[in-house]
Amino acid sequence: MTMNVLALVGSLRKGSLNRILFNAAVDLAPPGMTISEFARIGELPLYNADHDVDPWPEPVLALDAALRSADGVLFVSPEYNYSVPGVLKNAIDWASRARPASALRGKPSAMMGGSTGISGTMRMQYHLRQILVFNDSPAMPQPEVILPKIQDRITDGRLSDESTRALVAKHLAAFQTWIARFSTP
Ligand code: FNR
Repeated sequence: MTMNVLALVGSLRKGSLNRILFNAAVDLAPPGMTISEFARIGELPLYNADHDVDPWPEPVLALDAALRSADGVLFVSPEYNYSVPGVLKNAIDWASRARPASALRGKPSAMMGGSTGISGTMRMQYHLRQILVFNDSPAMPQPEVILPKIQDRITDGRLSDESTRALVAKHLAAFQTWIARFSTP
């Protein structure tokens, strides 16, 4: 049976290097895993408890439905100011408010990201792990995909560095095993 992974990409810009990383992940997914993006993250309104009523804003309903139908969630994101970009945090804030329980609860997750500097999203990833603890989403510990100077790993809009591609492939194969650990037979 195919495992469906929903990806949330934390950069909205067209030329996003993390989007190139996401594209590589789609290509490098192991047999039996498909990765699709929730592409409407930029349409989510800023979280406002006054609008957190039934019915939810339509893009929020779409996010919740996409999360519920996914076997796992893959976060692909840059680091902004040593943390999680606002667009990604906003999506998680909305998802976390579902009644009776967040679609993230019990949903296996994994993360990857790259930055143009030397920290490679490590601080973002550790903040994201903290957020996922509150959401009760089991985040895969290893292998981490933390990519300093991601621009040097890309040629003509493609993740070209072979060792990085191998790491992404290893991460996704491990995520397949990780998801299986949490699925009921
Ligand atoms: C950054 N960048 C950045 N890089 C990093 O390693 N640590 C950081 O804390 C930040 N902070 C930060 C804040 C903001 C508002 C911006 C716009 C950028 C640089 C970042 O790694 C670089 O712009 C990436 O190329 C952004 O990812 P995308 O959009 O290319 O996927």
